[in-house]
Amino acid sequence: MKSSPIGVFDSGYGGLTVLKELVKSLPEYDFLYLGDNARTPYGTRSFDVVYNYTLEAVKYLFKQGCPLVIIACNTASAKALRNIQMLDLPNIAPQNRVLGVIRPSVEKVAEITQNGQVGILGTVGTVASQSYPIEFEKWSGGRVKSTVQEACPMWVPLVENNEMENEGAEYFIRKNIDAIFKKDPALDTLILGCTHYPLLLKIIQKHVPQGVHILTQGAIVAEKLKDYLQRHPEMEERLTKGGNIVYETTESAETFESKAALFMGTDVSAKNVHF
Ligand code: DGL
Repeated sequence: MKSSPIGVFDSGYGGLTVLKELVKSLPEYDFLYLGDNARTPYGTRSFDVVYNYTLEAVKYLFKQGCPLVIIACNTASAKALRNIQMLDLPNIAPQNRVLGVIRPSVEKVAEITQNGQVGILGTVGTVASQSYPIEFEKWSGGRVKSTVQEACPMWVPLVENNEMENEGAEYFIRKNIDAIFKKDPALDTLILGCTHYPLLLKIIQKHVPQGVHILTQGAIVAEKLKDYLQRHPEMEERLTKGGNIVYETTESAETFESKAALFMGTDVSAKNVHF
């Protein structure tokens, strides 16, 4: 039988932080992970470029048999998701679905914050799009009262280039965290609004004041997807359940394999693809 996996897409390795949690909470499903490592990072690219790259990836994943695609990237969720859902999906695959990571995160933050003062760390693109403040306004039920944002342009390159654990990484991480707490010293919840950032979590925790909630998105997206599948049996029935995970990258398969294996904690065999 042809498989119909859940597609998980990111510009590079960051989406693995989401995939790992998806597999943990939905182990019976098949997954196809696609990293556009050849064109990462997306965070500093224009709206049109991110939209076109993301649309290409979504179409490719549909062609591979994925009826449901999770855009495990905030930048692409911020700049491309709405257009894809409203303009493209009805024409290219009306029965398929594409979901992002911002809305589930916003709903979770609204449940957690006590004083309504929230900080968002993200890429230049995510911050400039204002997606988080706009979505908090719409979906937090008034629980989020003020937001401050800080773009961290060096963080994704640190992850993509395997520089996560050294002193240089710590310098840039501390710099951005100090900057966001200067904007609002009383914020009680900090959202890591980029799926690459959990890979820097240990150093981030060192520099965030105690008592502040640091939210990573993997578990949040997994919880919301589980709920989505329960509410949408017509989609759930289309997904195949063999517990297989396929990894594809637009860059070198060998490099992807060694890095992804470290992160996923299992052997990873990846395929190089073009679209
Ligand atoms: N993981 C992507 C995100 O969540 C990173 C983006 C990038 O490629 O700059 O925003």
